[in-house]
Amino acid sequence: MSIPVVLLSELKDSEIEDLISVLTSCTWPFHSTPVLEREKLLAQYKEGYFNGEGKRTFLIKYGIETVGVIRLFDLGENKEDDETPLFDIKIKSEYRGKGIGGDAVRKLVDLVFNEYPNKYRFDATTRADNTAMRRVFEKSGFVKEAHYRQAWPDREGNKYDCAGYSILRQDWKNKTITPVDWEK
Ligand SMILES: CC(C)(COP(=O)(O)OP(=O)(O)OC[C@H]1O[C@@H](n2cnc3c(N)ncnc32)[C@H](O)[C@@H]1OP(=O)(O)O)[C@@H](O)C(=O)NCCC(=O)NCCS
Repeated sequence: MSIPVVLLSELKDSEIEDLISVLTSCTWPFHSTPVLEREKLLAQYKEGYFNGEGKRTFLIKYGIETVGVIRLFDLGENKEDDETPLFDIKIKSEYRGKGIGGDAVRKLVDLVFNEYPNKYRFDATTRADNTAMRRVFEKSGFVKEAHYRQAWPDREGNKYDCAGYSILRQDWKNKTITPVDWEK
């Protein structure tokens, strides 16, 4: 049997139920809002949170299944904008650890640098104890550039460290990894 292919499919109005189905399928303990509610998601969709100016959302397809969501944001006003984008990724719990997150992020990096000629960096942050996400950054060419101590509060008032990563256009293009020069 062949292994299903991972694809990013830009969210269409007709797919809002697929989006809600993924986002309400489990809790998201590494996010500031771990439980997502249908009504709030519908309201956010209407307000343009997922696909308003500077934002695009993709369903992650694994074969015929919709298994996750990526929200790309801070894209700026148009394709020529040089604002540095960020993203968030969520994969349904039963599909994690199969390489889907890594594949999806690498496809997203290709999309950003191919479609936006003036993006020179692509940034991301995660809670420092989110080992799976940090591994995905590493295997997708991102380099850790920052560590923010106690910068990520949760609802109970616990404060977690946060790690900041980025990939440079030049590294993506040349398939290289440029380490941070901390002595500069
Ligand atoms: C983070 C997330 C997107 C990763 O997606 P995924 O499909 O599981 O990622 P992959 O399978 O491509 O890779 C996960 C890697 O982390 C590793 N990993 C997972 N959990 C781990 C753990 N607890 N300790 C050490 N390594 C771990 C896996 O072994 C794998 O590395 P490998 O390819 O070297 O074996 C997914 O787990 C998820 O949706 N989590 C919940 C939402 C979330 O935290 N999003 C990120 C917000 S910033």
